[in-house]
Amino acid sequence: MTEPRAAGPADAAEIRGDPSSAEGSVTDRVRTGKAPSRRDSPSKRDAWREKREAALRRKPSVLSGNVLYLRNVTVSFDGFKALDDLTLHVDPGELLCVIGPNGAGKTTMMDVVTGKTRPEHGSVWYGTETNLLTLGEPEIAQFGICRKFQKPTVFDFLSVYENLELALAGEKSFWPTVFARLSGRDRARIDHVLETTGLEAKRRARAGTLAHGQKQWLEIGMLLMQEPKLLLVDEPVAGMTPQETERTAELLLSLAGRHSVVVVEHDMEFVRSIANRVAVLHEGRVLAEGSMDDVQADPRVIEVYLGA
Ligand SMILES: Nc1ncnc2c1ncn2[C@@H]1O[C@H](COP(=O)(O)OP(=O)(O)OP(=O)(O)O)[C@@H](O)[C@H]1O
Ligand SMILES: [Mg+2]
Repeated sequence: MTEPRAAGPADAAEIRGDPSSAEGSVTDRVRTGKAPSRRDSPSKRDAWREKREAALRRKPSVLSGNVLYLRNVTVSFDGFKALDDLTLHVDPGELLCVIGPNGAGKTTMMDVVTGKTRPEHGSVWYGTETNLLTLGEPEIAQFGICRKFQKPTVFDFLSVYENLELALAGEKSFWPTVFARLSGRDRARIDHVLETTGLEAKRRARAGTLAHGQKQWLEIGMLLMQEPKLLLVDEPVAGMTPQETERTAELLLSLAGRHSVVVVEHDMEFVRSIANRVAVLHEGRVLAEGSMDDVQADPRVIEVYLGA
């Protein structure tokens, strides 16, 4: 049986390029620019490529421009610039991966988009019409921008199905929702989300009995119930087994095209499997962006990871 990978130390070892790291260091992979996955066989790697390309093909063609556009965004904490003139965009239906060393500003970027943190400079556009900096957190959520936090916020004492039911309600209160009769459309939505997240067999299970990975998928499912346009996911595979990580990659890839998705993650194997475009953050700004191959071959990226 495979033990879950510890989130903190293993990631730190990866970033530092610890030679004892079982699957080879990020540094090695960044240095060679080849990033061969020792976890996946060649045929498996081809399968990921097909899935990534399928996700690209699902991009909605009716929308043009950016779903999200952060322009020259600066956030300071007591004079320290967590974001320093950050410019970053997300295309419609895109799954964008954001990587970067600890403290690069990845989570702060998500905090700005969701309205938790206000920048001192810059602008944040959602489509061409909506300046997110004029809105509060609840309003931003109502525009279809949802965020998955690392710690799942599912209700352990409710079943998987009830958790999804509850998520339908959004801002509405708990008890009226639980006792309300579901419409056929609502039931169909819940069934669809159960299928997407691979939790059909667990629909009656109490959320508290789920494995770590299943809880994370339920949390993603709860966000999907709100039919988000833009989904922000911070370190989704921390603490997951390789099998759970793989399933999460499939899940997130299946969302691309239907939703725009921003994924922040330290697990480079995971990022490689899902990313069509990667942005590397360092000291609050984008250091490099492009395909995984491009960024891993970039000398500036190699230097940042070597120096970490
Ligand atoms: N509320 C805060 N007050 C003071 N400093 C903060 C605050 N939030 C973030 N920072 C600092 O801003 C910098 C960026 O933090 P952030 O959490 O965005 O990094 P990150 O890229 O998400 O890192 P990690 O990969 O470790 O999650 C860090 O130096 C952090 O200590
Ligand atoms: Mg973070």
